[in-house]
Amino acid sequence: MGAVAIRADFLHCLRDPGLDGSDASAVEHVRDGVLVIRDGRIERLAPAAALMPALGPDVVLHDRRGSIVVPGFVDTHVHVPQVDVIASYGSQLLDWLERYTFPAERRFADAAHARAAADFFLDRLLENGTTTASAFCTVHPGSVDAFFSAAEARGLLMVAGKCLMDRHAPDGLRDTADGGVDDSRTLIERWHGRGRARYSITVRFAVTSTPEQLALAGRLAAQHPTVHVQSHVAEHRDEVAWVARLFPERRSYLDVYDHNGLLRERAVYAHCIWLDDADRARMTASGAAVSFCPTSNLFIGSGLYDLRQGVAAGNRIGLGTDVGGGTSYSMLRTLGEAYKVQQLLGTSMHPAYALYLATLGGARSLYLDDRIGSLAPGLDADLAVLDPAATPLLARRTALRDDPLDAFFALATLGDDRAVRETWAHGVPVHRRAPAA
Ligand code: GUN
Ligand code: ZN
Repeated sequence: MGAVAIRADFLHCLRDPGLDGSDASAVEHVRDGVLVIRDGRIERLAPAAALMPALGPDVVLHDRRGSIVVPGFVDTHVHVPQVDVIASYGSQLLDWLERYTFPAERRFADAAHARAAADFFLDRLLENGTTTASAFCTVHPGSVDAFFSAAEARGLLMVAGKCLMDRHAPDGLRDTADGGVDDSRTLIERWHGRGRARYSITVRFAVTSTPEQLALAGRLAAQHPTVHVQSHVAEHRDEVAWVARLFPERRSYLDVYDHNGLLRERAVYAHCIWLDDADRARMTASGAAVSFCPTSNLFIGSGLYDLRQGVAAGNRIGLGTDVGGGTSYSMLRTLGEAYKVQQLLGTSMHPAYALYLATLGGARSLYLDDRIGSLAPGLDADLAVLDPAATPLLARRTALRDDPLDAFFALATLGDDRAVRETWAHGVPVHRRAPAA
């Protein structure tokens, strides 16, 4: 197969630049560069002046000058079935689950509904430049088959799993302790490592699993060290209080998962707002990651996640949209809200760290940085082609300074799907924005 090349500006992180961006050399900017892709993987990134004369006649060149190409965004926490509950008015977490979320998830017992929703969901991700997500399906195993089939059809690296929930959920949405874990094992055998699919053992949260199910989920995880784990922790004060009543013998909410072997590498915990210092130390020691979900935390009224504390403790941290608690599939908009949450806490999150959170930080949180998250040679060519002049306001604002990180910050503050010109997965365009009418 021949190679393809893209000519544009390129911006990516080689490592964590620090919350204050103090390690400036962690970000690489290639102005008027060429990215060469062969067999779905990045072969080379270099200035056009050096590379153009050396491109062979078999290389198909895509001229995207005027765009900024970044690694495809990594959404470390999102719910597939919640496409129908985004923007639902008037409740906080536990009531929101009962009123809106559980009824929507019940409909996923129907395989045709699950497939149509998975297709719709993935198209929203791609139009926003997101190429990998760690996604919750529903309690129904068929919802996972539908999701991974839809992801496979688009060539996407996706992490997902069936929700384990054997209590405190309505009829039609409960499994059993061993039935749910047996279904998860079957899905691991069917999907984990098939093409770009990665399975995640998905304990919804400690409230909806019995101690028996948590123990079995931990045992399943121990039997499958390369499989991912995902759940929620310490999101909302009412939820934290409920978990304390359900598990009085555990030191903390996080300790419920830790006790059951669910705190480990490849585990991602959404929210982590109400953790204490001991919990944060355990997150780092275990290798588990935080998914910071600012639009959800604001919309549900959960609280302000303090990045400074997580960073100081050495936590792995990624960014999550958490739709439908979250209010946008756009990782750009999510970064804009992340910035504002940190402002309220007295920290100005640097644009370089914003880029890191949405790309390499997410890939590291999922232990997928050997495949995605940067533009290093050998990685899969998953890309977002951003248009810094997507709207009149963005065009005016980004023309002001010749600084790609400043343009990225403006995109994060003002941009959304309109700023995503194209999305590429495994070296192939999978979304192209329609020209404005
Ligand atoms: N905690 C348990 N389930 C959910 C969910 O679906 N969304 C959010 N934001 N928190 C949860
Ligand atoms: Zn969530």
